[in-house]
Amino acid sequence: MIVLKTGRELAVMREACRISYGALQEIGKAIEPGVTTAELDRLAEAYIRSKGAVPNFKGYEGYPATACISINNEVIHGIPSKKRKLVEGDIVSVDLGALYEGYHGDNAATFAVGTVSDEAKRLMDTTRESLYEGIRAARAGGRIGDISHAIQAYVEAHGYSVVRQYVGHGVGTSLHEAPEVPNFGSPGRGVRLLPGMTIAIEPMVNVGGPAVRVLPDGWTVLTSDGSLSAHFEHTVAITADGPQILTAD
Ligand code: MF3
Ligand code: CO
Repeated sequence: MIVLKTGRELAVMREACRISYGALQEIGKAIEPGVTTAELDRLAEAYIRSKGAVPNFKGYEGYPATACISINNEVIHGIPSKKRKLVEGDIVSVDLGALYEGYHGDNAATFAVGTVSDEAKRLMDTTRESLYEGIRAARAGGRIGDISHAIQAYVEAHGYSVVRQYVGHGVGTSLHEAPEVPNFGSPGRGVRLLPGMTIAIEPMVNVGGPAVRVLPDGWTVLTSDGSLSAHFEHTVAITADGPQILTAD
């Protein structure tokens, strides 16, 4: 079932999303060579709790941390660890969210550790831009496939591939709601977009092929071919006046 949110609900959800965005920026500011992913996770959790919210990934299907932190060839769902130190040249995908007064925010971004390769920069730029292409296509009266297609077309025009096993999603009083929001598909297909829908759009993009595999830890998703991967995500509201990014200041 797809839940449409009222203006009042959207106002609360915007606050959950503002906190989620703030926590992501806190991690972004702390990213540097030598910092461990567990330290970054702790910063995000402290920030979220200081705002009267709760980290919504922690305990979700048994997930043990506030943030998912995935490095280089890791696509998503990397588990923060005291043993994992960032190194100059890494790219680091951070995904996290906050639950506030019953509503969820969800966002992600890939950050550079110091100076990174030209390929890594181009991958991050392409993935971020593909998210904005998807957001621009999220208009009331359109369909989910418009978003999916906009992302896929942009990514593939740049010679990269879109991960298919994991998709974006509705978000609201649950972290994951209907509908699914794939990062590949055909315009004019899928669920109709209506004012009051809130969706997390989250392209995961690989330099090499689209295939991924999961580590024996049951969480960490890696590219099958070892190529670099990036991930950007915003929670977006569909309104009569166009898409609104909720995960913002
Ligand atoms: N961040 C994922 C998403 O965007 C959900 C993470 S699942 C968790 O949909 F268990 F790691 F929290
Ligand atoms: Co999400």
